[in-house]
Amino acid sequence: MISIDYSNMMEEYIGSKGLSNLSINNISPQIEKAYKMIANREWKQLEFIDLLSQDTAEIKKAGRYIKKSADNFLLLGIGGSALGPRAILEALSPFHNLKKRPRVFIYDNVDPRTLKNLLSIIDLKKTFINVISKSGSTAETAASFLILWDKMKRILGKDASKRFVITTDPEKGSLRKIANDEKILTLPVPPNVGGRYSVLSPVGLLTAEVTGIDCNELLRGASDIKSICLNNDVYKNPALLFATLLFLMDKEKNRHINVMVPYMDSLKFLSEWFCQLWAESLGKENKGLTPYPSLGTTDQHSQLQLWIEGPPDKVIFFIRVDDFGTDIKIPAVFKNIEGYNYLSGHTLKELINSEQEATELALTKAGRPNFTITVPQINAYYLGQLFFFFEMATAFAGALLEVNPFDQPGVEEGKNLTYGMMGKKGFEEKKKEVDEYRKNKGKWRI
Ligand code: PA5
Repeated sequence: MISIDYSNMMEEYIGSKGLSNLSINNISPQIEKAYKMIANREWKQLEFIDLLSQDTAEIKKAGRYIKKSADNFLLLGIGGSALGPRAILEALSPFHNLKKRPRVFIYDNVDPRTLKNLLSIIDLKKTFINVISKSGSTAETAASFLILWDKMKRILGKDASKRFVITTDPEKGSLRKIANDEKILTLPVPPNVGGRYSVLSPVGLLTAEVTGIDCNELLRGASDIKSICLNNDVYKNPALLFATLLFLMDKEKNRHINVMVPYMDSLKFLSEWFCQLWAESLGKENKGLTPYPSLGTTDQHSQLQLWIEGPPDKVIFFIRVDDFGTDIKIPAVFKNIEGYNYLSGHTLKELINSEQEATELALTKAGRPNFTITVPQINAYYLGQLFFFFEMATAFAGALLEVNPFDQPGVEEGKNLTYGMMGKKGFEEKKKEVDEYRKNKGKWRI
């Protein structure tokens, strides 16, 4: 099971910059209220909890077919529809495209240069495309789908529809209609599961299967931590504790920036996934906690100075992995060079984990709050635990902050203005707003 050591968040370890048991106990009515909101399913989108018992037969079947019939698997989607699949791919199958088939490409941004480059290296005849959009209306995914559909039609004619799988709402939306009309294989995103909470639905699970990862292992890991994340005792529930600690650090110590530092390359994209979840769920009504993605040891040589001596507005949390599944011994060469000699006989795992501990201690000595999440090893089982743990923590944090962690009104406004600019029917007022804005734009420019 993953565990959290939060000693370095407490005043006993970092003095007055830390929290006390009293500060946690003082807000126990708030914690209890937040707990009840989640346990009693205050928001229907808490249905992501039920994904853990889903039937994965159709996902596995689609995965087997794609693995057998494609050289390339191209995923079109953005935000919650891309970050989860990417986190799974990078965590569990690093350097995938250099080692295995089908190669996996995730095209999320609508950068024309990226698509041009991508199309120059993949053979579309041997490509299977997964279009993921819960709403079916997101402009980026719609645009890339239209381009790829047109190209596939030109190459494969009526067989094009056999090279797509569409992951979307089971009933609503333009993508669902197209899938029905064109008889394209589909997988559902349950209507009450929000985009950024959808990694353990077909959104993430199909990519897992295509890359040779048993999606049931992700679900098994998540299921095993579920009851712990639903414990009503904050000291026994790591997700509730995580939310409470970061909530209190913001409220009492003005530390609103939360830096996530995994000490494992393949968890870099878990950081990106977490940052979207934390930012988009909590940043509203002038409230929120600001996530900041990072990577150890790399960022010790880039960001650490700021964390130790910069503005006291951050909490750093590490993800430390006990077992890398492999290790490499540092050989005894250049024995007479003292500057290198001390490393000989040690291993890379010893070095990376020592650096994590050293950074933790340096922060602690400087009175900078930090805590460590330890993961026994990175495989589908523990990645499933991490996903579910962070999703539950985010829901609890939303309840503590008294914001709805499942909507994103700010993002919707940007989407609507884009629709107006691009001439979508029904968004004429938004177009007028943009025209007005453009008239006055650029007055203060050099
Ligand atoms: O979390 C969210 O709701 C968003 O990040 C969405 O995932 C993102 O905007 C993409 O939406 P959709 O899947 O509807 O295309």
